[in-house]
Amino acid sequence: MSGLNRVWVVSGATAAGVLAFFLWSAARPASAHAADKMIDKAAVKFTEDGKLKKPTGYRMWPFIGTPITPNDMNDGEAAFPEFHIVYMDPDSFAHYEKTGEYRDGTVLVKELTSVGSKEATSGKGYFMGEYIGLEVSMKDSKRFKDEPGNWAYFSFGHKYPLKESAPKAATASCNECHQQNAKKDYVFTQYYPVLRDAAPKK
Ligand code: HEC
Repeated sequence: MSGLNRVWVVSGATAAGVLAFFLWSAARPASAHAADKMIDKAAVKFTEDGKLKKPTGYRMWPFIGTPITPNDMNDGEAAFPEFHIVYMDPDSFAHYEKTGEYRDGTVLVKELTSVGSKEATSGKGYFMGEYIGLEVSMKDSKRFKDEPGNWAYFSFGHKYPLKESAPKAATASCNECHQQNAKKDYVFTQYYPVLRDAAPKK
């Protein structure tokens, strides 16, 4: 094949690819777009009696930070043992990138793992063990209109198997400490470098 022919073959294949893509997007049913929107809305789901269902899929959400309160530095039992892996629902993360604010509907998941070992070939330290617990916070001005800042808190337990659904925790047991000590809008933003970096620079 001469050089010129080869060019024609390659660009023909590219054109066919582009054409196929346009046909595919045009043929994509409107319901697929509607489904995308529904995923956007339902970052988490509630039971009919208002409990939060154990969230799913959050390990694919943007990761925002990892505080760690090891048991051995907290009298053998930290309030939230031990690694805290914190995620934010994708649409709220995109909003935060644009505005530096936690939008109405923001969901934060804090998943706990144990310390598995304290020594690796890289040195001494704290290395993740197994999943042990799950906490969620959510800001919703309609559903939680009576909570300070419209933030509600849910605990699915600190031992597997986790609860399948969790009631809203009492304001005094979670919300108050967040209200008093968190850097920004009830969220401990001071410990989340990903969010600080993602926010628009003033
Ligand atoms: C005594 C203070 C205090 C109380 C009470 C408290 N928290 Fe927190 N919470 C923190 C701190 C500090 C962090 C960030 C550092 C960390 O994870 O240890 C945090 C982080 C979180 C996060 C990650 C998102 C964020 O806001 O930073 C969730 C979710 C959360 N807590 C849920 C709960 C739930 C559920 C309860 C009640 C069962 C609760 N918290 C009670 C201090 C508290």
